Amino acid sequence: MVHDIVALVEPVPTGLFLDATVGGGGHAEALLAAHPHLEILGLDQDQTAITAAERRLAPFGSRVRLRRVRFDQLGRVLAEIESTADSELGGLSGFLFDLGVSSPQLDRAERGFSYRKEGPLDMRMDIDGSLTAADVVNTYDRRELTAILRRNADERFASRIADAIIDARPVRTTTELAQAVVAAIPAAARRTGGHPAKRTFQAIRIEVNDELGVLASALEQALDALMVGGRGLVLTYHSGEDRIVKGAFRQRTTINSTPRLPVEPPQLPYRVIRPASRQPEAAEIEKNPRAGSARLRAIERIAA
Ligand SMILES: C[S@@+](CC[C@H](N)C(=O)[O-])C[C@H]1O[C@@H](n2cnc3c(N)ncnc32)[C@H](O)[C@@H]1O
Repeated sequence: MVHDIVALVEPVPTGLFLDATVGGGGHAEALLAAHPHLEILGLDQDQTAITAAERRLAPFGSRVRLRRVRFDQLGRVLAEIESTADSELGGLSGFLFDLGVSSPQLDRAERGFSYRKEGPLDMRMDIDGSLTAADVVNTYDRRELTAILRRNADERFASRIADAIIDARPVRTTTELAQAVVAAIPAAARRTGGHPAKRTFQAIRIEVNDELGVLASALEQALDALMVGGRGLVLTYHSGEDRIVKGAFRQRTTINSTPRLPVEPPQLPYRVIRPASRQPEAAEIEKNPRAGSARLRAIERIAA
């Protein structure tokens, strides 16, 4: 999908492009290389990601600014940049949110994100965060566990898994959690839909990092900051995220009340340029299995 992203960003005006989830800097690097008229502001709440992005994007020198913050702080970061810039910023040329967890986070067993690797129940993207997966797994009651499994992962067996987690307490490692979840899912259901613990790990990770809680506010700030001609792109990986993005885009691109008189409808300042998504190609999914569930949406600001 990186080719689609680079192509969608091509016509945006010269200026600052926000990569709200810079991770290791893969997308940022592709955008900087393809579009010399852009500078990048990269955010990530994970210091490991910022360090990796610093290394990867070093060849682009002063075209890159990186900040370790949660992306709902983007308005404050933009105001700071504006206050120290020589000339007026005039808004964002575009933005990209590539949501969720990164491959390096999943690959490091000690971060506790992976059901395939033995590690502590952590799952914090920001290691200064106060809530860990161990807190969720060992202290949430049945109702709370069931609710996050349904809301964050559409888990069909949410209440059975919640019971199994409570029975297995204290749960100390990712492997212990994965085993408890697998045992709670009926054998027939275990044979389809990937690893049986995948959705539970996703649900707990989203809770630990409050991933859905901060998204709407961050999108509002990014949409407000777009300059005319600027484009916003969001890559989501599950229905909960996608619903929030779709809602935020719809709010900016549809008129809520129908006028009684036959008047010209007002021109809306945004238009959706990519409503839902193309499925990524098989080769891309093979290289990166997360790409299989990816959806890309894009919006453009057409008036002030
Ligand atoms: C899918 S990865 C991004 C990968 C990146 N596009 C690349 O090409 O390397 C998502 C990144 O977003 C970060 N992240 C997720 N939610 C965040 C939030 N609310 N604020 C800041 N960073 C966040 C994660 O720490 C992770 O590094």
